[in-house]
Order: sequence, then structure tokens, then C-alpha cells
Amino acid sequence: MEIKIADSDVDLTGATVIAGVMTDRVPVPGSEEAVAGVDPGLLDLAKFDGKPGQAITVPHEGAAALLLVGIGDVVSFDSIRTAVGNGIRLVKTSRAVTTLNQVPIEAATRAVVEGCLLGGYEYREYKTNGEGLVVESVDLVDGNEAEIAGAVIAAEVTNLARDWVNTPALDLAPEILAAKITAAAGDAGVSYEVWNLERITDEALGALLGVAAGSDRAPSLVVLEYQPEEQKAHLGLVGKGITFDTGGLSIKTAPFMEEMKDDMSGAAVVAAATIGIARLGLPIRVTAVLPLTDNALGGNATRPGDVLRPITGPTIEVLNTDAEGRLILADGLGVIRRYQPDLVIDVATLTGAARVALGDRIAAVFGSDSEVAARVLMAASRAGEHFWELPLFTEYRKQLDSDIADIKNVTASRYGGAIAAAVFLAEYAGDGPWAHLDIAGPARTRETMGEQVKGASGFGARTLIEVAKGMTESV
Ligand code: BES
Ligand code: MN
Ligand code: ZN
Repeated sequence: MEIKIADSDVDLTGATVIAGVMTDRVPVPGSEEAVAGVDPGLLDLAKFDGKPGQAITVPHEGAAALLLVGIGDVVSFDSIRTAVGNGIRLVKTSRAVTTLNQVPIEAATRAVVEGCLLGGYEYREYKTNGEGLVVESVDLVDGNEAEIAGAVIAAEVTNLARDWVNTPALDLAPEILAAKITAAAGDAGVSYEVWNLERITDEALGALLGVAAGSDRAPSLVVLEYQPEEQKAHLGLVGKGITFDTGGLSIKTAPFMEEMKDDMSGAAVVAAATIGIARLGLPIRVTAVLPLTDNALGGNATRPGDVLRPITGPTIEVLNTDAEGRLILADGLGVIRRYQPDLVIDVATLTGAARVALGDRIAAVFGSDSEVAARVLMAASRAGEHFWELPLFTEYRKQLDSDIADIKNVTASRYGGAIAAAVFLAEYAGDGPWAHLDIAGPARTRETMGEQVKGASGFGARTLIEVAKGMTESV
């Protein structure tokens, strides 16, 4: 879908005009004229009064149709994005025109662009019949070019991550995912290195190798490097890339395994954000490390009780092979530390416990100090993604004491599981500023609504881009 700028006298022939209506049928600023011509009888008939989630198509002078979307009681970034997201899926013409980018709120253009591109996202790779959405372009009346371009990049890379995550694990072996990511990175001017099994072995990434041992598909580790001419700071990213999580020998039950093709969401959004930052040309150096592997249970699989040696840091007694994310992240964090970034952020669908605590719409953020967590929260609020800080409570560290190794990968108690995982990761994150984002809940959208479309969400990419933007001002 293409987002373009149009004049206020744009030709409406054949187009759908999208206008916003607040509760009690009050048009939003900029939509007055379009709404004025509507026959109130039609609105009565459809019981349309401008509530959020409502949308109705009516005839419109000079255009193919007028699509009224309900905004509710307040005109806000959220209400506009949601309404446009709901509306875009109802457009039956190839072209749409809107003035909603002009509503007097901050980032109105971004709300409209995200509504269109994120709400209009579809994954049809494996559909052999039926047609998808027909809308091909949206004209924003009197839009601002730079604002549109920035919003389009953030939305497009989010959709890129969605495509990768939606791909069935059958067609997304670690080496295939590495190829897809590096191809997209190369197109954006990001340089890369791919470590194959031999290199991973030479580098002694024993924890990644331990997880990969149970699969016939080889692991891969991708390093992405964006090196702009001007570098105000250096951001290090690590993404969990489990291409399918069976749980390993500590095998999952069927219902819990169903969604585990999502388990490379961290790697996907980290790669997407790196590409986004490069496309935006931000003056921030970014290094991203993506350990990619299946967690399977072949004959060579790591057994409960085995001890693994990550590239650096404590040796790990693996008592539950389903707590594999923290193992590959231990190596991922070890690799990123070599590059000595100013700030390290890891992103992972790490624990069911984070989802239990915060539900499907909110991710957990842990910071090595409260300033780091605050930085992520600030970025998230600008990106319109929801995070909540959980404590990196180091007194839980002793629950991870192992009888025979330096640390074990699970605690005896299932309580506080998201925190225990973060405390484990802290052992490998080094002494510098570090944040850990547990996106186990929001990585997948369960109900289509607004800019969210059922399936992979791409959650986190836009927050990481905003973190990078924030680093251009201070570190
Ligand atoms: N990939 C899962 C976490 C997950 C659960 C992500 C639900 C998305 C939705 C992770 O590898 C895992 O299995 N974690 C275990 C850890 C436990 C064994 C300590 C969990 O949360 O049950
Ligand atoms: Mn697992
Ligand atoms: Zn997992």
C-alpha cells in the first residue's frame, strides 16, 4: 500500500473518502464538510453514532463512497490509529483519500499511516484462493512529507517482522531465516555476517550449541551492523531466534506448542528495527546479534542435568530444556559485549510468566537501572506500544544456584518466572546499561482490532526505533 500526499482539491473520482466521526455524530476537525452531506436517516438505520469500532459506508458526491469511522469521545493518537485501522479493511476501492492526518493532535500523520499500513496488513502467502484487501493507495490531504516517510518506514519494518514471524517453521529453518534477514538488511545498507555451525563451534557458543543439538536443522547466528558516518552513540541489540520451540526433552503439551513458531519474534523485531534505523538514517551505530536455532528433541538433544558452557560467564546446568531462550541469549549477550555498545537491549518471547503477569497486550521491561527502563518506557509511549516495568530483583538469584555448575536455568518454584529469567540474563549482560524486553504476551495478536491484525504483531520494532531516536539526544 502506498501513502501519498494530495492537495485539498484532489480528484475523488473512484476513491473512498475516509472521515472521522466522534460520539453523538460530531465530525472531527477536517471531516466537517464530508460529514455534512450525509443523510442522517442512513446513520439511524445503521445505528452509527461515532463510537469506537463503528464504521459505515455511505454515498458521497463525486467519490465512490464515504467511509465514516467512529472515533469515540476523544481525538487522540490511539483513537485515530484504531479507527483508521478498522476502516482501511472496509475500503472497496483501490484508492482512498482522507484528511484525518490533519486532526489537531501530535503525530496525527503517524496515527493515520500506522492505521493504514499496519491495519491493512495481510499474510496471504499460503492462501490459494480468495482475494485480499483491494486498497492500493491512500492520499493524505495536505500531508507532511517527512512525517509520512518516517511513519511509513516504522510501519513497513513492523510488517516485515510480521511476515517472518507468520511464516510456518517448516519453511523457516534457522539458515533460511538468516538468509531472509540478511537480504532485507543488505537492501537497507546494513552490513552483516552469518555464523554457520562451524563458526559457532569455533567461537565456543556452548549454550546455543546445546539448544541446537536436538535439531537436524543447523543453527545460525546473524550479526547486523549499521554504521552511519555520524555516530552519536552505539546501540547493541540481541533477539531471541528460536525458529520452533517444542520445549526439547522437557517437551511442551500440544496446546502450548501450537503457537511456538512465534518464538523467533525477538530476532525478527530486532532485525526489523535495525533496518528501520538504517532506512531513517539515524546517527546511531547499531549492532544486532541474532542467535537462531530450533529447540527440538532429536537423539542428540541436551538432557535435563547437562551442563553447558556459554562463550563467557557462568556455566549452566540445564534442568528444563524448555527454558532455552535464556540459554541462547546468554551467548547472544556474550557476543554483543565484544562490540562494547553504550546500551544493550535484548528482546525475547521469553516466559509464559510475563504473559500471565501482564496479558497479551503489554510487554515486560527490566532495566539494569531504573534510568534504562525509563528510557525504554518513554520510547514505547512515543511508539504507541505498551510496556510495564518489572523489577530485576537480584535477591532471587540464589534460587538459581546449581549443585554442580555456576547457575541453573530454572528455579524450583514457578512463581516470579519472568523475573527469574531476567535475573539469569543479568549474569551475562555485563556491567553496562542493559534492558531486557519480555514480549511473550504481545508478540502475537489474538483479535483483529485497529492497527493490530490477528497473527504476528511485530511488537517492539517501533519502540526500539524510538529508543535509537532518543539516543541521538543523550546517552
Ligand atoms: N517460548 C517460551 C515462552 C513463551 C510462552 C512464549 C508462551 C510465548 C508464549 C519459552 O521458551 C518457555 O518455554 N518458557 C518456559 C520457561 C519455564 C520452563 C521456566 C515457560 O514460560 O513456561
Ligand atoms: Mn521454551
Ligand atoms: Zn522459547
